[in-house]
Amino acid sequence: MKKIAIEVKNLGKSYRIGETIKHDTLRDAVSHFFSRALKANKAGGSINDETIWALKDVSFEIAESEAVGIIGRNGAGKSTLLKILSRITEPTEGYVRIRGRVSSLLEVGTGFHQELTGRENIFLNSAILGMTKREIRKKFDEIVGFAEIEKFIDTPVKRYSSGMYVRLAFAVAAHLEPEILLVDEVLAVGDAAFQKKCLGKMSSVAKEGRTVLFVSHNMGAVASLCTKGIVLESGKIKAIDNIDAAISAYMQSGNALIDTLDLRNHQNRAKGSKELLTSLAMDIDNATAFYSEPLTFRIGYDFKEKIATPQFCIIIKSMTGVRAFTLVSNYQPSDIPSVLEGKGEVVCRINSLPLLPGRYSIDLKLWQPGEKIDDIENVANFQVEWLQRNYGQFNWDSSMGVVYVDAKWNLSSK
Ligand SMILES: Nc1ncnc2c1ncn2[C@@H]1O[C@H](COP(=O)(O)OP(=O)(O)O)[C@@H](O)[C@H]1O
Ligand SMILES: [Mg+2]
Repeated sequence: MKKIAIEVKNLGKSYRIGETIKHDTLRDAVSHFFSRALKANKAGGSINDETIWALKDVSFEIAESEAVGIIGRNGAGKSTLLKILSRITEPTEGYVRIRGRVSSLLEVGTGFHQELTGRENIFLNSAILGMTKREIRKKFDEIVGFAEIEKFIDTPVKRYSSGMYVRLAFAVAAHLEPEILLVDEVLAVGDAAFQKKCLGKMSSVAKEGRTVLFVSHNMGAVASLCTKGIVLESGKIKAIDNIDAAISAYMQSGNALIDTLDLRNHQNRAKGSKELLTSLAMDIDNATAFYSEPLTFRIGYDFKEKIATPQFCIIIKSMTGVRAFTLVSNYQPSDIPSVLEGKGEVVCRINSLPLLPGRYSIDLKLWQPGEKIDDIENVANFQVEWLQRNYGQFNWDSSMGVVYVDAKWNLSSK
């Protein structure tokens, strides 16, 4: 049997709500304190009643050299878990046992010293991991090369663009030969080429027999890198399974779309998104669409300010996280004006839905040139069925792929 690299038992982490609120001035902070005290008094409780559990009753074991994907919606507790594993925060309950040297790439900003240069940060981080100067010198060129920051290696990292910063942070975390590598959503930043490079590096780290824990919303990346998945939902474990089953459990947790869905305050809206997309409707009953039949999406929007060249984007994914197809308003026939303001609705019609029977989920994104301004993942689920079945005896479904392709077979007469 393989040795256990990470053991997590009855782990819980609570936060007091309001703790993260940043106050611009001392006066704000003081008035906030008193208004909270007042509220708490009225309710007859104390301020401490306002606690939330970011993680609760979380237990699992990870064997050495396993590559594990941690998946779940925004706010599910993924980052909190990685922070506890890398000892950046203390758990409120339970414990964690780790065998091996941990290197982590958490949210941008952790691990690097802003005033120090790239070179100094590499040496500092390596020293913290217990490497000797000689070992570091051997790795140094590889790290700088991977990060593609040769020219800026003697510039303080506070002057780096966010892309350069993440590239260096990833290169350091992945090259220092940790026994356990923790990576949180690094693929959300950086361009496609760098994302591919990161995935390649992580999979070679995993193949070298090191343990990898990987948080990402990119199900394709998770599926290709990890063998096992842990699904978190509201701070609790929803599933621990092989990676395909885990992704499927996660994808099924969306709402079935029956009628118009209100997207304001949607829990899956990405951090930093503006609340610009307000509703989604589809012209189907019982959340069931049909193969080769038309299908219409209606997306409501509310733009407080003018938005030039808005690009509405619908992404349809299978329950295994595979992207089946993408619809993009600017790259397809459209009469949407080039500037939109106020409330309205855009309509997207598909003439013939090519999907095989099965369950699918919808991601919605709104772009303006060069920038994603609203982003909701797994907005809803819908089912696809055959309307009539003229395809022989075989029960075609999404286990055969995401699309049905019409084809004819003959014996060659040559
Ligand atoms: N420092 C903090 N103070 C207060 N609440 C927090 C803090 N960090 C995280 N939370 C809350 O804990 C929950 C889990 O957050 P997080 O672990 O960041 O989720 P995820 O990474 O899955 O999106 C969320 O409700 C979040 O608002
Ligand atoms: Mg997170």
